[in-house]
Amino acid sequence: MEQEVIIDTSEEVYQPAEDTYLIIDMLLSYLKTSNSNLSLLDVGTGTGVIGISSAKSKKISKLTLLDINPKAVSLAKSNVKQNQELLRETTVKVLQSDLFTNLPKEKYDIITFNPPYLPNEKNAEILNEAFFGGWSGIEVTQIFLKRSLEYLSNDGVIFIVSSSLADMNKLTTYINELNFVTQKQEKVHIFFEDIICSELHLKK
Ligand SMILES: C[S@@+](CC[C@H](N)C(=O)[O-])C[C@H]1O[C@@H](n2cnc3c(N)ncnc32)[C@H](O)[C@@H]1O
Repeated sequence: MEQEVIIDTSEEVYQPAEDTYLIIDMLLSYLKTSNSNLSLLDVGTGTGVIGISSAKSKKISKLTLLDINPKAVSLAKSNVKQNQELLRETTVKVLQSDLFTNLPKEKYDIITFNPPYLPNEKNAEILNEAFFGGWSGIEVTQIFLKRSLEYLSNDGVIFIVSSSLADMNKLTTYINELNFVTQKQEKVHIFFEDIICSELHLKK
């Protein structure tokens, strides 16, 4: 029987929503046919649910979760503890970091990021870091993608969420410029926007 993931939430941390479950579904479906013994980095982990859920596949041997929000880091740590049975064969690290800033240079097989993707100005409120990705909604994603090149293994894969409210044309052009190819995309429609999850690989 598949083990359940138990996740506590908090008002100060992004609560798992449709975008979270979209990326988890795509990730678990990818892991069904992937190799084993993989390393996974979950950027902007929030509660930690994406990374923790990946352990259901039994294919993740190393898991790193990071967030800029210290409250998210504490919550993700406690959620890792709650799911220690599921994670018993996985080495887990949780750290506070602005994207890759505090992360030691290592290569990962999988990197996931459900970023702040709504177009708007950032302000000092830490919870706003969970939603607003800069003026066109893709600025945080662009910085992430550029820097991810130093952390992704050659055969690695990135799962990233974006929104139809952001400047998707600009993002697609940028993805090509960085030499990524979009292998798969899935969408869900929520209220006034499409949430899009893309599976990116490096061009050979
Ligand atoms: C949309 S929420 C996603 C949370 C969680 N991964 C999920 O899917 O439920 C975006 C997360 O990214 C974090 N974040 C925003 N900017 C970041 C940055 N520069 N570096 C690291 N994390 C960041 C936020 O604190 C927030 O937890």
